[in-house]
Amino acid sequence: MSTDPTESPEKAPDAIRDALHRPLHDLRISVLDQCNFRCPYCMPEDEFHANYEFLKRSQRLTYDEILRVARVAARLGVSKMRLTGGEPLLDKNIPQLIEGLAVIPGVDDIALTTNGMLLAPKADQLAAAGLHRVTISLDSLDKDVFRRMSGDRGDLYSVLEGIAAATAAGLTPVKINVVVQRGVNDHTVLDLLEHFRGSGHIVRLIEFMDVGNQNGWRLDQVVPSRQLLEGVQARWPLRRLDQNYPGEVARRYEYLDGEGEIGFISSVTEPFCGDCSRARLSADGVLYTCLFANQGTDLRESLRVAADDEELTDVLSQIWLQRGDRYSELRRPEVAEAHVLRKVEMYRIGG
Ligand code: GTP
Ligand code: 5AD
Ligand code: SF4
Ligand code: SF4
Repeated sequence: MSTDPTESPEKAPDAIRDALHRPLHDLRISVLDQCNFRCPYCMPEDEFHANYEFLKRSQRLTYDEILRVARVAARLGVSKMRLTGGEPLLDKNIPQLIEGLAVIPGVDDIALTTNGMLLAPKADQLAAAGLHRVTISLDSLDKDVFRRMSGDRGDLYSVLEGIAAATAAGLTPVKINVVVQRGVNDHTVLDLLEHFRGSGHIVRLIEFMDVGNQNGWRLDQVVPSRQLLEGVQARWPLRRLDQNYPGEVARRYEYLDGEGEIGFISSVTEPFCGDCSRARLSADGVLYTCLFANQGTDLRESLRVAADDEELTDVLSQIWLQRGDRYSELRRPEVAEAHVLRKVEMYRIGG
């Protein structure tokens, strides 16, 4: 598992900090922009229709290029790699990429975020390749609500099979991400928690965020974590837990009766930019230093012309050294109208 990057900065040869003194700890790698779901809060069907032009294979980075960026990022302090999409398991060769990541010095946590539909048959192969754990997006256990929130594409049974297979393969702790939208699935949250209590899986309740510009975000659909926490506490008393590592986005709690852990991710009402240590690489090679960035740095050219990893290390460190992003802190509704800015779409950088 990840370690505190501030405890042993010497672990990475060239560990650096950004303009707000934040280390680089996580690299989120989007392997492709396509998805087999159309969750309305991420890829609404009317925007992402049958003729929508996703990246072509030739526009995406090759695995060698991704691994080069990952190696350089590890030199600069990254110890956690997360594979995302769109839906990363649509990329059939992903075990090969995982094998490459697993041998990078300094990388001690390799995770993958998936909607779980294609996971069951692949879980063993992913684990054998060196994947440590999976996070599964699952917004409701009510069949109809789930179906609607997957854009009429998801099959609940397959996702639950995926969770079981991941557990059996040792891809643990399995985390379950639940995006909570008022009037859509908030009434099904307690049932979902009840189902997973005692299973060893960690459910994280996520505030609906204003990522991108196409997901129809509305403040009145955000259920503040505080409110959810009160609802959960009223049924099952909780105790706050310490962070696993600085920059962890979830606030962790455990059930007092010993039935496990849950988390709250409160980017809208309680932003956590202060120790944000994440960089994001899109499938076409653009490096973003914030989930809400309106632009990133295209690394494809650098990958082609940088003669060696030293030069690429310089490019990446310059990007990180200049970073001053803290979108969620600035966007608080009472502070600014930042949510109307143009931003990168979620499906391009996978959260
Ligand atoms: P762990 O590695 O298990 O701590 O999880 P993670 O934080 O990498 O989580 P995951 O990819 O599952 O993301 C959970 C939720 O948090 C998603 O909705 C993400 O979009 C959101 N999220 C992740 N990183 C950030 C971030 O840096 N800023 C904001 N605002 N949201 C984030
Ligand atoms: N708000 C909050 N979380 C979101 N995700 C996708 N779109 C949003 C949004 N608008 C979540 C997915 C996935 C994670 C990487 O990001 O459910 O679990
Ligand atoms: Fe696909 Fe995940 Fe976006 Fe849903 S949230 S459309 S599963 S990438
Ligand atoms: Fe990091 Fe940007 Fe999220 Fe703030 S809004 S926590 S800077 S990714």
